[in-house]
Order: sequence, then structure tokens, then C-alpha cells
Amino acid sequence: MNWKYPLSDIDLGKEEEQEVLKVLRSGWLSTGPVTERFENAFSGYLGGGHAIAVSSGTAALHLALTCLGLGEGDEVILPSLTFIATANAVLYAGAKPVFADIVGNEDLNISSEEIEKRITEKTKAVIVMHYGGYPCEMKAILRIARRRGLYVIEDAAHAPGAEYEGRKCGLVGDIGCFSFFSNKNLVTGEGGMVVTRNRTWAEGLRRLRSHGMEALSWDKYRGRLSSYDIKGIGYNYRTTEIQSALGLAQLKKLDRNNRKRRRLVEIYREELEEDSNISIPFSKFKGNPSYHLFPILLAPRINRDRMMRGLKDFGIQTSVHYPPVHLFSLYRRRFGFRKGMFPKTEEVARREVTLPLHPRMSQEDVKRIVKKVRMVIHACTP
Ligand SMILES: Cc1ncc(COP(=O)(O)O)c(C=O)c1O
Repeated sequence: MNWKYPLSDIDLGKEEEQEVLKVLRSGWLSTGPVTERFENAFSGYLGGGHAIAVSSGTAALHLALTCLGLGEGDEVILPSLTFIATANAVLYAGAKPVFADIVGNEDLNISSEEIEKRITEKTKAVIVMHYGGYPCEMKAILRIARRRGLYVIEDAAHAPGAEYEGRKCGLVGDIGCFSFFSNKNLVTGEGGMVVTRNRTWAEGLRRLRSHGMEALSWDKYRGRLSSYDIKGIGYNYRTTEIQSALGLAQLKKLDRNNRKRRRLVEIYREELEEDSNISIPFSKFKGNPSYHLFPILLAPRINRDRMMRGLKDFGIQTSVHYPPVHLFSLYRRRFGFRKGMFPKTEEVARREVTLPLHPRMSQEDVKRIVKKVRMVIHACTP
């Protein structure tokens, strides 16, 4: 499908070409000095801590849970309104996912009150996911977590550059996980980053990233180490120098592109705010999000499938973020989740549509999309 208005697009240019070319000419492709530079630049951008580059956001989540020692018999509280990777990572670790409902139609993030209701003596951690790059109510969540002795992992896949009360998302909780998949605000094709302020966890994460080894091939190549010991199991979740080169170039553009996203969202809001067929989540949000997604909620009388098909006919790509994880067959079968268990999540999942948003769009594009949205919605209203 050749979309006139794709849901997301990537901003790649000469900077990325040059960085990647340097890597190709260097003769070293696996995790090495460029990755080290990317990690340092990333933690510098976040304002401190340690950053460990990995092969994907999913790998980042798996490593975070594993590094904290979570496994069989442990429960992890997380939203159901998220990408499947957030929950699957809990299964990889051998722990049990326990879902908590969202705040509501205005704030699509996990609710601190619902988290508190789900805590048992087996609960060890909470994973929050900053939906669309809008930070969760971290103060309340951290207060509960500290009182009950729980770890807080941030799934910050949508939130590079987003700030919560002046702090960058990813370093607000105990461990933060980023994805650099091709539809994200910072893109390396595939890739991710785990961040933490805790040095011991950072060392653990580095080992887990590469088979539990104390050092990388790069260290051996540099003559830093000739042998090594394995004290625990690890994985191959390493990234490549090519991806890190892309990451370095993309990081330089992140703030500028997030500002572009913000301007586009402002125009979407101005244009759609009066429409009684639509409500716009996070419109009262005060703070500094990363504007990863632009979600709208359709009035219940509007047929969403027809609406999305109508927009497709005009070349406008839309999506649903997200089909709730608790209603996937695997999760129903394995854990007995049923419809009706998380009513706010399910309502949003029925009514939500995500409209195109990316830094290569113009303000005129937004206005043209809005015109078509209005036209199509009118045709879908009984
Ligand atoms: C909320 C969320 N969590 C986790 C992931 C997993 O990231 P990746 O695709 O890099 O494994 C994604 C992205 O795809 C995501 O959107």
C-alpha cells in the first residue's frame, strides 16, 4: 500500500549516511566504540545514569526484569493497554503478568489506584508504559512502590525526550527501557536501550546482554581481556555499530523532531476540539510529552472499522493502540482473563483510532487529514 499519509515516517538524512559510512569503513561492526559513544550520549541526554544499548525494546524489558531477579512465583503489575512486548517480557522472565486498568478516557496510562488494588504478597514490580509519550502519574506510582517495596520499570518505548516534572522519562523509576524500532521518535531500524542510575544493575545488564560474559569481543580485540568466566546465564541482545551510528545521528535531532510533533498535535487539537464525534485524550495534559502518537476516541455511535476504511480510501493510514493484551487468546487461555475485567481499557480499545504523526508531516498535511476525518466520520454516523 502506497500511503499518501503514513502513520509514521523516519527522518533520515546526510548525518545518518555519514555516521554509517564511517562505521562501514572502520571494519568493526559488532558492539564497540560507536555503541559506547551512543550509550554515553544517550545517558548524557537523559541527564545521568548508565545506558546499555541492546538489540530491541523487547530485549531491554526482558533484561530489566531479569536483572532485578524476577522469575517464577513473582507477580508484575502492568497495563493491558500496551504493545504485546511489555507483557511478553514478563512471560520470558517466568513471572506472572497482573494487569491494572488505565486512568480513563482523558489519561490512557495505567492508574496508580488500580495498581494499588492489584498488589499481593507476590508482587515484585510494576511496569508503567508512557502511552504515546505522555508520562504516567509517576509521583503516586513511586509512592506506592516505595511503601510496598516494589521495583518500578518504565517502558519508555514511546517516550524518548518526554519529561516528568523536569526529569527525563526512563530515569524516573528504577530501570527504563527504550525502543528504537522504525516507527519510534528515535529510530535505528531495530534496537533499544536500558537505563538506570544504579551501578550494580548497570553492570548486571551489561553482562546479561552478552551471554553473562564479563567483557565483549571488542574488549578482547583491544587486548583488555584474554579469558573470562560465566557466573550466570545471559543472552545475545547486543546491537551493532551501524545501529548505534544511526542512533547518534538521530539523538541529535530528537528534540527538534519532538518540537515538530508538538506543533502538529497542537494543530490537530485546534482543528478537532469542537467536533462532538471525537474526544482527544491527554488534551488537559500539563507537562512535556514526546508526542509519539496522536490518539482520538470516536463517539460510541461511530463505526470504527468503516471510519478507518474510509480514511484508507484517501490514502490515510490509521491504527489502533492497542488491542488489550488480556484479551489475546494466549493470555485468556493461560491466565483466564475475560472481557469486562478492565472496563476502561476495553472501552478505549473499542473507540480509539491513531492518526498519522511524524516529523516529516507538514502543518498543511494535518489540516488535509482533519478535513477527511470529518468527512468520513460524517458518513459513518448513523
Ligand atoms: C510500548 C512498547 N513497548 C515495547 C516495544 C518493543 O520494542 P521493540 O519493537 O524494539 O522490541 C514497543 C515497540 O514496538 C512498544 O511500543
